[in-house]
Amino acid sequence: MYTRTAVWLHWILAVGIIGMLILGFCMLRVPPNTPARGTLLNLHKSLGMVLLAIILLRTAWRLAHSPPPFPDAMPHWQRMTAASVHIALYALLLAQPLTGYLTSAFGIFGVRVFGWELPKVFTANAAARTAFAGIHHVGAALILALVAVHILAAIRNWYFSPSLRGRMRIGTSAVQ
Ligand code: HEM
Ligand code: HEM
Repeated sequence: MYTRTAVWLHWILAVGIIGMLILGFCMLRVPPNTPARGTLLNLHKSLGMVLLAIILLRTAWRLAHSPPPFPDAMPHWQRMTAASVHIALYALLLAQPLTGYLTSAFGIFGVRVFGWELPKVFTANAAARTAFAGIHHVGAALILALVAVHILAAIRNWYFSPSLRGRMRIGTSAVQ
C-alpha cells in the first residue's frame, strides 16, 4: 500500500491535471480577445501555479519515501514499464507548469495568480512565447497519452492482478 500522504497527493493531482488538460484545450476554442477567454486563461494560469507547488511537494515526498515493492510474481518487463511510465509522468508533470509559466512570462500579459501579479522576469518576446507554447502543447499531448496508458494498466491490474489491487485506494493505505 502507498502511504496516506502519497495517496492523497496522487488523487488531488490526478483531478487537478485532468481538469487542467480539459480547461487548456477548451479555453483555446473560445474566440481570442474576449473577456471569457481572458477569464479562463487567468484561471488556467492560477490553478497551474498552485498545481506546480503541489507537484514539487509530491516529487520531494516521493524522493524521500520509497513506494511499496512490486509483488514477487510481477514479470520483469511489467516492473520496468510501470517504473518508466511513473518516472516519465513525474518529469512531464514538473515540466508542464514550467513551460506554461515561460509561455506566459514571454507574453505581453505575464502571470497573475488569482489576481496577484508575479514579478516580470522576462521582456515580451513573441518568438520565445511561440516556442514555449509549442512545447507546452506537446507536453499536454504526451501527458494525455501516458495517463491513458496508466489508466488502462490500472484497470487491467484491478481485474487480473489481485496483489496490485487497491494500492492507491483512498482509505485503505498505511498511515503517514
Ligand atoms: C493525471 C492523472 C494521473 C497521474 C498524473 C498519475 C500519476 C501516477 C504516478 C506518477 C504514480 C506512481 C506513484 C509513485 O510510485 O510514486 C501513480 C500510481 C498509480 N496510479 Fe496514477 N495517475 C493519474 C491518474 C490515475 C487514475 C485515473 C488511476 C485509476 C484509474 C490511477 C491509478 C494509479 C494506481 C493504482 C497507482 C499505483 C500503481 C502501483 O500499484 O504501484 N492513476 N499514478
Ligand atoms: C499544471 C499543468 C498544466 C497543464 C496540464 C496545462 C495544460 C494546457 C493545455 C492542454 C493547453 C492547450 C494547449 C494547446 O492546445 O495548444 C494549455 C495552454 C496554455 N497554458 Fe497550460 N497547462 C498547465 C499549466 C500552465 C501554467 C502554470 C501556465 C502559466 C502560468 C499555463 C499557461 C498556458 C498558456 C498561456 C496557454 C495558451 C498557449 C497558447 O496560446 O497556445 N499553463 N495548457
